[in-house]
Amino acid sequence: MLPCINWLQPFLALISSTLLTHGHNCPSRCLCPDHHTVNCTSQGLTGIPDSVPLDVRRLLLSNNWIPWIPSDFLVLYSDLLYLDLRNNSLSQLEPGTLSSSSRLVFLDLGSNNLTEIPSGMFGELKSLIKLRLGNNPYLTIVGRNSFTGLTSLRELELERNGFAILDVRVLEPLPSLRTIRLEGNPWLCNCHFAKLFVWLTQNRHKLPAGMEGIECSLPMDGRRVPLSLLSEDSFRECHGTLTLTDYLIVIFSGISVSFAAIMASFLLASIVHCFHRLSKGSKGDEEEGKE
Ligand SMILES: *[C@@H]1O[C@H](CO)[C@@H](O)[C@H](O)[C@H]1NC(C)=O
Ligand SMILES: *[C@@H]1O[C@H](CO)[C@@H](O)[C@H](O)[C@H]1NC(C)=O
Repeated sequence: MLPCINWLQPFLALISSTLLTHGHNCPSRCLCPDHHTVNCTSQGLTGIPDSVPLDVRRLLLSNNWIPWIPSDFLVLYSDLLYLDLRNNSLSQLEPGTLSSSSRLVFLDLGSNNLTEIPSGMFGELKSLIKLRLGNNPYLTIVGRNSFTGLTSLRELELERNGFAILDVRVLEPLPSLRTIRLEGNPWLCNCHFAKLFVWLTQNRHKLPAGMEGIECSLPMDGRRVPLSLLSEDSFRECHGTLTLTDYLIVIFSGISVSFAAIMASFLLASIVHCFHRLSKGSKGDEEEGKE
């Protein structure tokens, strides 16, 4: 009896895998070209199909209208290596949704409507090599620890998002990073940009379009210039040393600050004066108590 079962096992496995591949286990409107691939690209889907086999390794869901993914998604599909959700309607991901798979190698969330990458979102994706987050035009917030733990990540795409500033500490814990795309964001090269600028200068070989491919707006007139025209000197005043910079940022912002200070003192003085007169008029002499 026992040897017989042993002998039958490969056959049973073959039959069940054939059924899984060509039978009812491929979700309707999707293609399953091999045992581990489910391709539901451009099918007008508004949610993740129900009957995706649990052992799927490549799940292609791009060009649909999927607005959210269940928070236990990667717990369920724990064999997943390749997940393509490009060009969907994702606006928010619950923290932890994508943090539980240690196998995922490729993740594409580009061309969605994400606004924030919360800290811990990719917590345990230790095998992740490529992460695409570009073309999310409202994406402006990245949690400080969003990318910590992505120890294998080689390629990070953050192009054409909504970033005016990015805390450089977000990028620092990425030991395997080879390529990072940051072009097409509304970068603002004020003092908050200084640290990122230094990091970019040191990591310019990781920028596919180089420093000249990334533009930022000058604080005084909003004119956009490629980063290659700036130098660390352009941000000198941010360290407290007053020098003439490439675009006279110092002088200009200095004048604005003084002007603002004068206006503020003037306003304050008027208010105090008014208050004094008012309190004198109503209650008489109370100045000693106030001082
Ligand atoms: C995004 O998906 C929509 C819906 O399937 C499609 O019409 C559009 O062409 C796709 N855009 C790109 C750039 O692939
Ligand atoms: C994308 O998000 C923005 C801001 O949250 C919102 O105003 C807009 O309607 C969203 N667009 C789509 C297509 O969901």
